[in-house]
Amino acid sequence: MKVPFLDLKSEYAELRDEILPALDRVCRESAFVQGPEVEAFEKEFAEFCGTRHCVALSNGTAALHLGLLALGVQPGDEVITTPNTFLATAEAITYCGAQPVLVDIDPSTANIDPNLIERALTRRTRAILPVHLYGRPADMHAIRSIAARHDLRVLEDAAQAHGARYRGERVGGLAHAAAFSFYPTKNLGAYGEGGALTTNDDLVAQFARAARSHGQTARYAHEFVGYNYRMQGFQGAVLRIKLRRLNAWTEKRQVIAREYRRIFQNARVELPVDDPRDECAYHQFVIYVNNRCSVIAKLAEREIETAIHYPKPVHLQPAYSSLGDPVGTFPLTELACDRVLSLPLFPSMTDEQVKHVADSVLEIVGGK
Ligand SMILES: Cc1ncc(COP(=O)(O)O)c(C=O)c1O
Repeated sequence: MKVPFLDLKSEYAELRDEILPALDRVCRESAFVQGPEVEAFEKEFAEFCGTRHCVALSNGTAALHLGLLALGVQPGDEVITTPNTFLATAEAITYCGAQPVLVDIDPSTANIDPNLIERALTRRTRAILPVHLYGRPADMHAIRSIAARHDLRVLEDAAQAHGARYRGERVGGLAHAAAFSFYPTKNLGAYGEGGALTTNDDLVAQFARAARSHGQTARYAHEFVGYNYRMQGFQGAVLRIKLRRLNAWTEKRQVIAREYRRIFQNARVELPVDDPRDECAYHQFVIYVNNRCSVIAKLAEREIETAIHYPKPVHLQPAYSSLGDPVGTFPLTELACDRVLSLPLFPSMTDEQVKHVADSVLEIVGGK
């Protein structure tokens, strides 16, 4: 039985009758950049996250960049983040002329270990950028209390965590601001690029609204040198339709994850730990295995697609060799990157597909 890693085609088949008229509406109004669909999406996504503001942007990297600028990150500053993430997290810090300072993970969650943050602080530290990796919220209580003690700003990288909850509260409103990505493969994915900054801070939102459109506060009134980080009208229209289904899709992801966990109880694999007080959005379902290459090959023989998030941590990428953090600097992240394997998990997965993946993994890695 074929199990793709993700099935956006079946999702489109389900949504087509709503999507096409919405795209037609954008064309008829010629509202190709920002416009009414994007504005409506901003209101609806802010409500979903429980925040005062949502500023729609061109992609998640732009959201991280503007988020950091809005929180006052300047050239020469340092920003604490995790090496276990997609490169964009670190890149956004670099775009500000600041320095990413990496801190190893808690292997039980794959997220930044708050216990290691304070020893990485210096006079130059301005902000902390935790990532809710795979949709699992970072330990925000601990991070916020460190930030409060040292007068630091906190930006959530929520690119993978739409709808996740930390101690009952939605991500997006857990810190000074949060950056979301709507890249097509994300839990809430556009039909192209998209991103957003959410915040409860009026000044942060005001800055981001101007900065996304060349620093304009009114037409041709450029208060500062900004960017072209605007969202397209088509993306707003698509995201509004998909947002209405996001809760149901997240619940489906959680049901599949529970089933995987049940079957893997007796398997020789390790899994990240779910804190019962939180709700993981399960952007990815990862397992940790030895002999990853052979597990991937055996799953491929059974027509099961897999992926690796991520094979190489930030500090071992050539792009960040200038950090001077050699192999061994963040051993827990490096071990995770060597062993992590993402299994198929998407809302339209059938029970048979889930069973085929889980049984195959169990058969390949063996029981305890
Ligand atoms: C953790 C993380 N941060 C940031 C990004 C960047 O988002 P985008 O691709 O929309 O720029 C992504 C998306 O790939 C991501 O997974």
